[in-house]
Amino acid sequence: MTRPTLSRSVALFRAFTKEQSDPDFFYGMLARDSVEQLGRYVDLAGKVVLDIGGGPGYFADAFRAAGATYVGIDPDVGELSARGEPAEGMVMASGARLPVRSGSVDVCYSSNVLEHVSRPWEMAAEMVRATRPGGTVFVSYTPWLSPWGGHETSPWHYLGGALARRRYQRRHGKEPKNRYGESLFSVSVASGLRWARRCREATLIEGFPRYHPWWAKPVTRLPGVREIVSWNLALVLRRH
Ligand SMILES: C[S@@+](CC[C@H](N)C(=O)[O-])C[C@H]1O[C@@H](n2cnc3c(N)ncnc32)[C@H](O)[C@@H]1O
Repeated sequence: MTRPTLSRSVALFRAFTKEQSDPDFFYGMLARDSVEQLGRYVDLAGKVVLDIGGGPGYFADAFRAAGATYVGIDPDVGELSARGEPAEGMVMASGARLPVRSGSVDVCYSSNVLEHVSRPWEMAAEMVRATRPGGTVFVSYTPWLSPWGGHETSPWHYLGGALARRRYQRRHGKEPKNRYGESLFSVSVASGLRWARRCREATLIEGFPRYHPWWAKPVTRLPGVREIVSWNLALVLRRH
């Protein structure tokens, strides 16, 4: 398996600039990249994958193409049906309380969801609970101090989430999709690493900046700096 390169990061960033105009292109590429990334830790063929906050089905397509049995969870009917009919295997539920038995899946996965829940580490603990012994938990999120931490209100979130939300409303005449304090919360790199290292039921295999080339991984060891430059933190854990 090749290591993530700078050209892959550049391609992802270019695709990200088309997120609004061509979501199929961006989310399709992101999902394929994510599945390839996860494939460095676990062979997905034949595995049962539970994807928390799976959205409209781009990840369903990518996981199935890798040979996995995919089940996605999302509480938002608008997200589930953003591409038409919800994708096969999607269940309407919240990651805060997963409707699955303990230890029932091989892989519990979540991309860009933790920053949208008010109690992120409870959701992460639920993901660990759902995973079988020896299974893999992959959780990634955008830290609040990342340049994209405020989502569509960025970069004004650096002046405060409430202010950024009010400014967006004034400028656009409507609330942002991601509303600070309601559907967007401040989650740090430090809190993610702390949760993962203290997790009793699983061992942290790796924590790294998800979209960066392999050689950028040491930034996660730099308190303060890592909150801004990681852009997105990925945590990979193995269930005991
Ligand atoms: C930014 S989207 C990410 C979608 C996809 N995972 C990705 O990486 O492109 C955030 C998703 O999290 C979902 N979400 C929000 N709160 C959630 C919760 N409590 N449990 C599970 N999913 C949630 C939203 O409905 C939305 O589909």
